[in-house]
Amino acid sequence: MQKGHLLYEGKAKSLFATESPDILWMTYKDDTTALNGARKTAFTDKGKLNNQISTLLFHFLEKNGVQTHLLETLSDTEQLVKKVTVIPIEIIVRNVIAGSFAKKLGVAEGEELAEPIVEFYYKEDALDDPFINDDHVRYLKLATTAEIAELKELALIINTLLQQRFLAADILLVDFKIECGRLNNQTIVLADEISPDSCRLWDVNTKQKLDKDVFRHDLGDLVSVYQEVLQRLLNKTTEV
Ligand code: C5P
Repeated sequence: MQKGHLLYEGKAKSLFATESPDILWMTYKDDTTALNGARKTAFTDKGKLNNQISTLLFHFLEKNGVQTHLLETLSDTEQLVKKVTVIPIEIIVRNVIAGSFAKKLGVAEGEELAEPIVEFYYKEDALDDPFINDDHVRYLKLATTAEIAELKELALIINTLLQQRFLAADILLVDFKIECGRLNNQTIVLADEISPDSCRLWDVNTKQKLDKDVFRHDLGDLVSVYQEVLQRLLNKTTEV
């Protein structure tokens, strides 16, 4: 497979064409952004760590019946992925109160939710990714009623699986963001990445932050924290 021309440059990843119309070449960058890209720093090895962590988690999810876009991990920073039409919704699942949820509702960070909360955000940089509900999703024609139900169900299945996978590594999955896409036949699959850039991960005992909040709030060395997450996931596996 040959890497072709650049199709899309995102904040933390880029997508290139290949000779196959159904396959894209995805590269992970060291760039790390906050505040919708207003703050940006490159951390050596961050892209490599996210590629490794996301590959491990996508394989785990595939093994447990979740369809994803991942075809093959080519190198430290490169993957071959199925071409999908990305549904421009950031789906967030929360297990513990943190981040924008705490701010929006004026509640303290750290409380475990009785049941997970699923939220939709419209993926549109120019609008700062606004919080939207099912009616907005239908109004914007981002997904049908049946697809909305499917997206929520998929997000909750992924949540249950990831909670178990992380807990085995003594990590609490506080919240995370996923993006999904449609294959040519309209099947919805998990796309993008799942990494400490897109999850809140706390040490289960000390509640130490092991994710991008280290960058957002200047809490120390981001790369060593991401290395810790990878190492723990490699050391501890689950039966599921
Ligand atoms: O900021 P907020 O609390 O809404 O973020 C919830 C989760 O979604 C966090 O794990 C955060 O890292 C992730 N997220 C993301 N990309 C965004 C917004 C949030 O990965 N654009």
